[in-house]
Amino acid sequence: MLDNTSPLTLRYGSGGAPAAAAPNPVIDLLLRHRSVRGFRPDPLPDGALELIIAAAQSAATSSNLQTWSVVHVTDPAAKATCAAFAGGQQHIADCPVFLLFVADLARLNRTGAAEGIPANGNDTFEMLMVATIDASLAAQNAVIAAESMGLSTVYIGGMRNRPEETAALIGLPPAAAVVFGLCIGYAREGAEGSIKPRLPQEAVLHRDHYDLDRQDAAIARYNAAMADFYARERMNVQGQWTRHSAKRVAGPDSLSGRHELMRALKRMAFLKAE
Ligand SMILES: Cc1cc2nc3c(=O)[nH]c(=O)nc-3n(C[C@H](O)[C@H](O)[C@H](O)COP(=O)(O)O)c2cc1C
Repeated sequence: MLDNTSPLTLRYGSGGAPAAAAPNPVIDLLLRHRSVRGFRPDPLPDGALELIIAAAQSAATSSNLQTWSVVHVTDPAAKATCAAFAGGQQHIADCPVFLLFVADLARLNRTGAAEGIPANGNDTFEMLMVATIDASLAAQNAVIAAESMGLSTVYIGGMRNRPEETAALIGLPPAAAVVFGLCIGYAREGAEGSIKPRLPQEAVLHRDHYDLDRQDAAIARYNAAMADFYARERMNVQGQWTRHSAKRVAGPDSLSGRHELMRALKRMAFLKAE
């Protein structure tokens, strides 16, 4: 049975796993990650959220600028609105803790003004990227911290579908935008999810020179591993991984409105120099 198989083997599908086993509990935890989309209503233990945020704040951050913030959405009506904005993702309404991770240049604009120094650099694509990276690294630390406490999570990129309405919902100032949401809670029975295979390392790990041509065989093997996964999980996925991934980026219409994101961010006072 695959259930008894090592997480490393499951992560690559049979046949493609690196030889070394997880040498410690941290790597074992990382290898066992899976997104969960069904949550029990049970609250997190006292202090757990604050520990998760401390772990998030412990992530590296560009120049120690800490250009991110997080909004804990507690109001059930606001969570329901977020679920609708994200295209009807019910797990947002159901999870006991829903966080919105914010790329936050507003704080740096404010501290710059207080110092009497212009913050024109914040108007560049580079600083939007810095804030997005900072928010992402913090969130991933939050995910690992949560999973280490027996909690489950799922990111919600769907929160970028309607960026200005989302910003208004949580009162964001100019130069602050939600990058994604994060559901945290205890997995509902039957919704624990499974370790989803990733691309063979031949496709992602390059030595000295990046090689695109070399990846075809590895990608073909991955299609087969994912076909096994979909069948095992009884997931109704049409076609191979390459096919539905291609459809995901086929055109602006496949992006759930997010093809307009840059224009929205400009209206939200990002990218003024671009
Ligand atoms: C930035 C980001 C945004 C995501 N957005 C969503 C989302 O809106 N809804 C959802 O159900 N899953 C979302 N996911 C979860 C991915 O679908 C999931 O990580 C991927 O399929 C791999 O599965 P795994 O996390 O179980 O290994 C998102 C993941 C990331 C990293």
